[in-house]
Amino acid sequence: MKSSVLAPAPVPHHIAIVMDGNGRWATRRFLPRVAGHKFGVDALRRCVRSCAARGVAVLTVFAFSSENWNRPREEVSGLMELLVVALSREVPQLVKDGVCLRFVGERSGLSASVNAGLVRAEESTESNTRLRLNVCFNYGGRWDIAQAARRLAERGEEITEASLGAAMQMGDFPDPDLIIRTGGEQRISNFLLWQAAYSELYFSDKLWPDFDDEALDSALAAFRRRERRYGKTSEQILARSDSQQAA
Ligand code: IPE
Ligand code: IPE
Ligand code: MG
Repeated sequence: MKSSVLAPAPVPHHIAIVMDGNGRWATRRFLPRVAGHKFGVDALRRCVRSCAARGVAVLTVFAFSSENWNRPREEVSGLMELLVVALSREVPQLVKDGVCLRFVGERSGLSASVNAGLVRAEESTESNTRLRLNVCFNYGGRWDIAQAARRLAERGEEITEASLGAAMQMGDFPDPDLIIRTGGEQRISNFLLWQAAYSELYFSDKLWPDFDDEALDSALAAFRRRERRYGKTSEQILARSDSQQAA
């Protein structure tokens, strides 16, 4: 018999989000696409707080992909400006909230002023421990795998799953438990290709600026209903959780 004391519902340790739908959100309101990205920053601020309040330890968000350079020039430059402005505005509160901010992606393609902003923000938040916020910017999953392989080759190290995994950009973190994509599309768009091996996927039709606490809680509730089997059978998983409860 199962114990009558239920184990607390698991909160994902690491959530990753493809924050999609800013452009459509703006277009529906007859606003320029960049306005949608501005409201996207507001949604991210709320989401960071809500994740910290719910006990999530690591939040990784996709803010700009290596393919997003192919967008119209004004949108790309608008996004770069928004990043610099948002950092100077948001970092003091992130420090107060105990958020450690890190950028993940290829830095060499970014301008000197953007790079300086990233480094300043990272340095100001580096001693914070409540929530780790990884912002994937100029990031691609294929780039991540290739840079990991290149680093191992340069060091003359053997390529194994463990060594390659450790050489990935976020190799010092456990893989995401839950990957959320907003905006209704059901694809990975070159996000965490390696790290998504056993992540639970959740797709929301909400456009990113509309992603609120209720939408986050729906994703968390869906996650709790998932059975993570890692190749095993359901019976094996149930037997294991029974024996844990009995212990
Ligand atoms: C996601 O929103 C943000 C970035 C890719 C920078 P989009 O800008 O892709 O929004 P949609 O998909 O066009 O609505
Ligand atoms: C993925 O969204 C990248 C980010 C959210 C930063 P896209 O809007 O670029 O993805 P596709 O082009 O629809 O696949
Ligand atoms: Mg999009």
